[in-house]
Amino acid sequence: MPDVTLTTLQGLKQRGEKIAMLTCYDATFAQTACQVGVEVLLVGDSLGMVLQGHDSTLPTSVSDMAYHTACVKRGNHGALVVTDLPFMAYATLEQALESSAALMRAGAHMVKLEGGAWLCETVTRLAENGIPACVHLGLTPQSVNLFGGYKVQGRDEGRARQLRADAEALERAGAAMLLLECVPSPLAEQITQAAGVPVIGIGAGAATDGQVLVMHDMLGLSLSGRTPKFVKNFMAGQDSIQAAFAAYVSAVKQGEFPAVEHGFSA
Ligand code: KIV
Ligand code: NA
Repeated sequence: MPDVTLTTLQGLKQRGEKIAMLTCYDATFAQTACQVGVEVLLVGDSLGMVLQGHDSTLPTSVSDMAYHTACVKRGNHGALVVTDLPFMAYATLEQALESSAALMRAGAHMVKLEGGAWLCETVTRLAENGIPACVHLGLTPQSVNLFGGYKVQGRDEGRARQLRADAEALERAGAAMLLLECVPSPLAEQITQAAGVPVIGIGAGAATDGQVLVMHDMLGLSLSGRTPKFVKNFMAGQDSIQAAFAAYVSAVKQGEFPAVEHGFSA
């Protein structure tokens, strides 16, 4: 078991102390992130883009995710490791259980899936089998083709109501954590206040229980040359990657990141 467990995260939420989460794909960066107090390492399927150079997360496989989870595990010192179930790896209950088993055996402590209330049964079955699940809501990049681009979600009242209902249903189904991407800051605040489990945000304002960024983005690296509005370059003014990671953890803990300009209005 890692030093940071679900119980630790629950305690941080209750005390109002912000959770610092970063993506991580290998041992050296895992060690560096742990040295400066990152509590949760996300082996994100963003690796399909930042490591593999694909133009979306869709080509990423369960074996890619398991390989990078095993790499992160070897450099990890006490952080909670969360690994993404990639595109189409949880389309059926059987697939979800089998894919999650591979990721947990590789070293994940929790899996993350993208979707809404239709994942309730999957989340319950995972929990029954000892696998905590984080559900990623809002802008879910595996559905980019359905959304017609990477767009803020929940600006209209219908979609906002759906996201609130999804969060509530998924928590009731046994979700251990929620993650909100690119939703208006006031909506993220409502969902966080209503939730009993930790809610992590990216492009969701400052009111969530924690923050996550893609490591490459916050180090100022970009393949496409485009940087999302919610990203801050923490390498600026620092002379090492470790110092940049430390600046991120400190800014999250102090409530200095995200600032208003990193979020989206309703
Ligand atoms: O894959 C990833 O890096 C993610 C974060 C953007 C939350 O899912
Ligand atoms: Na992801």
